[in-house]
Amino acid sequence: MPILNYQNKLILAPMVRVGSLPMRLLALHYGAEIVYSEEIIDWKLLNSVRQVNDVLGTIDFLDKTDGTVIFRTSKEEHDCVVLQLGTCDPNRALKVAKMVEEDVAGIDINMGCPKEFSIKGGMGAALLTNLPKAKEILKTLVESVKIPITCKIRVFENENDTLNLVKELVSTGIAAIGIHGRTRAERPQHPNRNGLIKFIAENINIPVIANGGSREIEKYSDIEKFKKECGVSSVMLARAAQGNCSIFRKQGILDLDTVICKYLEYAVNFDNSPNTTKYVIQNILKELQETPRGKKFLECQTLQQICEIWDLGDYCRKKELEFFERGMTCRRMITPDMFEPAKKRTKFEQFDDCKELRCAFIRVNYVKDTELPKSILLSWCLKNKIDDKPKYEIIHQGKLFRAILSLNGEKYTSSYWEKNKKYAEQGAALSCIYHLGLISKEKLIESGSVIK
Ligand code: FNR
Repeated sequence: MPILNYQNKLILAPMVRVGSLPMRLLALHYGAEIVYSEEIIDWKLLNSVRQVNDVLGTIDFLDKTDGTVIFRTSKEEHDCVVLQLGTCDPNRALKVAKMVEEDVAGIDINMGCPKEFSIKGGMGAALLTNLPKAKEILKTLVESVKIPITCKIRVFENENDTLNLVKELVSTGIAAIGIHGRTRAERPQHPNRNGLIKFIAENINIPVIANGGSREIEKYSDIEKFKKECGVSSVMLARAAQGNCSIFRKQGILDLDTVICKYLEYAVNFDNSPNTTKYVIQNILKELQETPRGKKFLECQTLQQICEIWDLGDYCRKKELEFFERGMTCRRMITPDMFEPAKKRTKFEQFDDCKELRCAFIRVNYVKDTELPKSILLSWCLKNKIDDKPKYEIIHQGKLFRAILSLNGEKYTSSYWEKNKKYAEQGAALSCIYHLGLISKEKLIESGSVIK
């Protein structure tokens, strides 16, 4: 793998929830040259397993307990993706770095996040005032990891204090440094200290990646202006790219629908979670969410439904079917022990005599409480004068749950291991009302509850 060079680069900045694989590929498609992942906390990666996903052509790091994708990357970005880590511990950081060093081009340590969660954990901007720890983390990684190590910081009010900090960090051997020109206490509406970034860039000898200019960046030429003001050759964009990723396009910015369609294509191709996909599009649409189409979009819960709005419904259906036929294990097929090959697989005999429906309970599909599967079932029992109420037995494995519902001498269950007991009961009730004919399979498929 060629060693990542941070000079003269247009970079997608790290963004929680936004910076997953489809957004990174979109940024590369439009002209970004390096893409940062969202910040991932070290222990989340340590609790994941690496899996090659042949169907999608990706490397996945999946949460051991529930199969959620913690980090997904593909060959298209192999030489230019930087994984950003949230950490306060050199040993944990090193373990994570060793897990991913073949799969990413660089590792960045987040030293700028001002959120309470990070500060309390000694991560993010807390490291700016704990220099020994910050240096220990960087030094440990630089010494033992094959790929370049960087960090992304915020500035101090005072120029020399900032320069002293940066010089100390540079002394660890990092390959480049990202500088967001605001202090830990400043918010996005405060002006970015471009002059301070310039002062730092003039006084150190590794690439400075300027960040924080999005408020003034509306077109490609504004990026050049920002670079000049900061005296750097590389810049990193977050909000400008979040709002319209085609900002990276030399030939000019594109309209939002074109950008959304391209984003959706990547989201479908890489089986992105519907929640993240929706969040990203909400941030592109902004006030357009108030339009009739925007409101229709807000009601969507599945990738399929979102795609219909941008006329990509058939494309999504075709791809999902293709993935299914090629044997992809999608999120809803996760079983608790599938990532523990060494352990003997548990045989759940409790489910043998149950009427099972391969379905999941998706809470957002139900607006009113009376529409919930358990409520529908209770009303049916009342109407049909069934005295014995449905009884629920919970089966749990690790942090995941399924339920067995007993009613009128029959037992029902859903196939999906839910994240909590309540959902597990609703899942079993969904199976029950389906078998009683109180809800059609078409309706379940339409809502994405049925696992194909
Ligand atoms: C961010 N930012 C951020 N920074 C970081 O180091 N790690 C992260 O995970 C995130 N997450 C994140 C999410 C979202 C939605 C936004 C808008 C921002 C901060 C970001 O990378 C950048 O430093 C600031 O937004 C300033 O740059 P712009 O937006 O002016 O280009």
